[in-house]
Amino acid sequence: MRDLFKTYGNLKAVDRISFDVNAGEVFSLLGPNGAGKTTTVEILECLRPLTSGEVKVLGMDVNRDANKIKRRIGVLPQDFNAFDLLTVKENIEFFGGMYDKSIDADELIDAVDLREKRDEYFKNLSGGLKQRVGVAISMVNDPEIVFLDEPTTGLDPKARRDVWGVIRSMKTKDKTVVLTTHYMEEAEVLSDRVGIIDHGKFIAFGTPKEIIDKHGSGSRCIISNCDDRCLAALQGQWPSAEKNNGEIIIRLESKNSLPEVIYTLDRSGGNYEQIQVTRPTLEDVFLSLTGKKLVGVETEPVRGKKKKKGRRGVD
Ligand SMILES: Nc1ncnc2c1ncn2[C@@H]1O[C@H](COP(=O)(O)OP(=O)(O)O)[C@@H](O)[C@H]1O
Ligand SMILES: [Mg+2]
Repeated sequence: MRDLFKTYGNLKAVDRISFDVNAGEVFSLLGPNGAGKTTTVEILECLRPLTSGEVKVLGMDVNRDANKIKRRIGVLPQDFNAFDLLTVKENIEFFGGMYDKSIDADELIDAVDLREKRDEYFKNLSGGLKQRVGVAISMVNDPEIVFLDEPTTGLDPKARRDVWGVIRSMKTKDKTVVLTTHYMEEAEVLSDRVGIIDHGKFIAFGTPKEIIDKHGSGSRCIISNCDDRCLAALQGQWPSAEKNNGEIIIRLESKNSLPEVIYTLDRSGGNYEQIQVTRPTLEDVFLSLTGKKLVGVETEPVRGKKKKKGRRGVD
């Protein structure tokens, strides 16, 4: 992709980004809602026209060879849905039937670990299992590249990790995976390389380690199970400290500030369970580059709720 530019009216949704994805790698576009991830991947999937720039997939131009490209890629769209009143197996076979050549449904059901749900109606599956059906469908034509647009948004942590397992197994099958996500942890654990995107532009690019080494500084200190006295003392000293599931997270300039944390805790006379000091994460990088949190506004769970209609496909 070279200088991809995409506007919707006056809005620059993707503002001249360039990147290459290597065969066999997991590449992630990481960014908040509205950053331009779906627009970028749907241009690669030949589903949306681009305004300007050059985009090639498997050596072919998206403007000229859309049909050839589509035969060789797999797609899990954002907000994926299949047919409620077809079973898991029937859904996979239905999508397989669109291609000249497709992988056997049972083989795919094994690959996404859905044997027990093989003959269950799609509508009766949990959100995580529905996403696994979507991943199976994305592989039905034995594609060389699989695009997964926010495959785990709205899933609970266990279901999210199960989907991660399936994505990891794609790598062992020599698939190239292009993933979008707004969960930094997902990008960090799954990807060979990541492009962090905000307002249609890359703000960082490379392996998670390269990005953190280049843009991350200091360390994060996590204190778990703080009582009210500890909390008050820490928040008095570090007003920007973050509270998260009974933990408090303080971003320290350097590890040398750790004694100050311990002193503050000690002086508060309160109780806490443990202190952990870790290196910065992609989340910290995003915060330091943009001044905002990546997952500041959690999107509503997509599954099981009424969906927004109308935006997709309106170019
Ligand atoms: N079909 C469309 N028409 C008009 N604006 C759109 C359309 N699709 C996306 N947008 C806008 O373009 C920006 C990027 O959207 P999108 O690519 O969906 O981002 P992401 O997938 O990162 O959330 C957003 O501001 C969004 O509202
Ligand atoms: Mg999106």
